[in-house]
Amino acid sequence: MARRGPTFVCQNCGAVTGRWQGKCEACGEWNTIVEESAAADARLAGPGKPPRKGRPFALEPLAGEAHEAPRLPSGIAELDRVTGGGFVRGSVLLVGGDPGIGKSTLLIQTAAALARAGHRAVYISGEEAVAQVRLRAERLGLAAAPVELAAETSVEDIIATLTQGKTPRLVVIDSIQTMWTDAVESAPGTVTQVRGSAQALIRFAKRSGAAVILVGHVTKDGQIAGPRVVEHMVDAVLSFEGEGTHLFRILRAVKNRFGPTDEIGVFEMTGGGLREVANPSELFLSERDLGSPGTAVFAGVEGTRPLLVEMQALVAPTTLGTPRRAVIGWDQNRLSMVLAVLEAHCGVKLSGYDVYLNVAGGLRIQEPAADLAAAAALVSSLGNAPLPPDAVFFGEVSLSGAIRPVAQSAARLKEAQKLGFGRAYLPEPARGEAGADSALTLTGVGGLADLVADIAQRGKRRGGVAELSALSGGVETGPPPGKRAHY
Ligand code: TYD
Ligand code: MG
Repeated sequence: MARRGPTFVCQNCGAVTGRWQGKCEACGEWNTIVEESAAADARLAGPGKPPRKGRPFALEPLAGEAHEAPRLPSGIAELDRVTGGGFVRGSVLLVGGDPGIGKSTLLIQTAAALARAGHRAVYISGEEAVAQVRLRAERLGLAAAPVELAAETSVEDIIATLTQGKTPRLVVIDSIQTMWTDAVESAPGTVTQVRGSAQALIRFAKRSGAAVILVGHVTKDGQIAGPRVVEHMVDAVLSFEGEGTHLFRILRAVKNRFGPTDEIGVFEMTGGGLREVANPSELFLSERDLGSPGTAVFAGVEGTRPLLVEMQALVAPTTLGTPRRAVIGWDQNRLSMVLAVLEAHCGVKLSGYDVYLNVAGGLRIQEPAADLAAAAALVSSLGNAPLPPDAVFFGEVSLSGAIRPVAQSAARLKEAQKLGFGRAYLPEPARGEAGADSALTLTGVGGLADLVADIAQRGKRRGGVAELSALSGGVETGPPPGKRAHY
């Protein structure tokens, strides 16, 4: 029997407590606990219904005809790449992203593409009026596409409308935080409402076979707002990312029950909406600052697609007691590890220096294969020794300082060659395997110390900076010289 009286629900993690508290015991967040109706959860099952007797269903053997999930390609190749080949019938997809990143733009373009291909596509906006959505569609040149449009927030009304006539192939709900269901008494936007509305829409998708896309807001620390439980309820979670000042937008699968989670889709925000970027390497390398120290091109792979991106480092004498370690677009822990290996095995003393590392173009790299490129950029900046502009780097640095081979070396080399690069620094074992039929000049790197010595030599030839001479001899660098202490 459900307990009567108020319940208090954490708006961050969905934990339920019996009394109000300033801090949620479950997730540690402050001021996230809000009173919600006690009967709310119980009512989700259906208000006032008598308990139903269970209906027996047929059990099936594991062996049998495997049905490939019937998919509906959106016609937007970068989106299909991330979903794993299109929308699956009856599936629910959550798209999260910062306000203004382009979620509504992407989804109205998707709905229009499907509608133009002759499928029934419905776009429900809970945030904007119909006129606003129309205005955007007009700007995007999509006004003629037969998308069915409404500005509604009541889940019951929406489902009643959608079940009339032919079942839609795609339903976009923009956004789930604006929806509310009669089954729950809490205010729209609360955890219980979001969960209740999502549950009703998921049930509709499974029953009707329509693919439903829910738009989700993102909190300031990058989580999709509302209970994490919605992320567990849906079939796929996509995150739409980008840096404010850049026009690139990256769509990434965080979870996908029907496809890979390591593929990314790359878009560019233009005056006429989102444009697909079929060859992102060209885009990420388009603003390269050739010949300056502290930059290295990383030959990466995102899913099945090779992707070249520039890593930029700045190593500058610190004025603080604890030097700064700042990183954008890469893992802070991996940076710490690479710095530790440089100190321990290569004689590069960095304790007197601030270190900044940035991945150009607003991309976020997760591969350990970026270690070698990051290390090269760091040492290049420290020694004021530019790396060869036609070189790419990849390889994983182990704690012993050895360079470990990484997957898909051949694909990385091929992409570098395609984009006009002339040489590659790669793990020694990969040189023989993948490099046999590569036209690039390959330098196999056995250990990180070899790379450091190579870069130090390069700097020495350029006129000899104090740090460099020390590095090329493999000994510790002296105290930071005053002339670079402007940072
Ligand atoms: P929007 O799709 O409304 O973002 P979200 O739904 O994620 O909040 O996109 C809003 C931004 O995109 C806005 O700052 C203007 C920009 N934009 C363009 O640059 N070009 C366009 O064609 C459109 C429609 C929007
Ligand atoms: Mg929007």
